[in-house]
Amino acid sequence: MTATPRIVVLTGAGISAESGVPTFRDADGLWEGHLVEDVATPEAFERDPETVHRFYDGRRRAVASVAPNPAHEALARLEAALGDELLLVTQNVDDLHERAGSRRVLHMHGELLRARCLACEQRSEATGDLIEEPPCPACGERMLRPDVVWFGEMPYGLDEIDAALVGCERFVAIGTSGAVHPAAGFVLTAAAFGAATLELNLAVSEITEFFDETRLGRAGELVPSWVDEVLGGGAPR
Ligand code: APR
Repeated sequence: MTATPRIVVLTGAGISAESGVPTFRDADGLWEGHLVEDVATPEAFERDPETVHRFYDGRRRAVASVAPNPAHEALARLEAALGDELLLVTQNVDDLHERAGSRRVLHMHGELLRARCLACEQRSEATGDLIEEPPCPACGERMLRPDVVWFGEMPYGLDEIDAALVGCERFVAIGTSGAVHPAAGFVLTAAAFGAATLELNLAVSEITEFFDETRLGRAGELVPSWVDEVLGGGAPR
């Protein structure tokens, strides 16, 4: 049993933007002319698994070729100092938090580097292209799907996240547009239970009005300076 986290951090695509991973809803947020909503659904996978595999295989390769940035590194530094007092929740399916040194990352939308078997439901590591239809390491069936949470599916870890939001002192959202629920509502839960709330984002988001404070700028600059504030003592937000 871990302690109730004092700080809950939620990250979105904006934290990986400076590493070269495109966000979903900024100017270049289309993939080969598809809206992400059109490839990231169970219906899309049923209708056209090849297109969906190409989308995620491409993203897996793209992420393998980039590196974490100072924002990921700062959050790893925060975890090293705070341990279980920090819960890092990410909507991102990349592994840049882990590669920066974070050890406990709750991937609420799943992970590019994992697959799930449609036959036996086992989750397994996925480093290569799933369009090649590799066999499931558990049951041998060639029915692997990316272990990412699609629109209309239940995100991972919601019970743990809710408990942390209710008990935390501070909630910080980094690089997320607030367009996708339930993550977009986390700020309201945290605030309702008395947490101070801070948003670090490049631009005003759909949920900016719900935060006590918003700092606009690049994650690679804002996050390290916020972490310095927290670790430096005083009265950080
Ligand atoms: N630093 C900080 N914020 C940035 C930066 C940056 N360098 N670059 C972009 N941003 C901000 C944008 O202003 C935007 O508000 O990051 C946000 C990215 O928003 P989205 O592309 O909508 O990404 P996200 O909020 O993570 O999307 C949520 O939608 O498609 C689904 O499952 C997918 O997890 C994803 C979810």
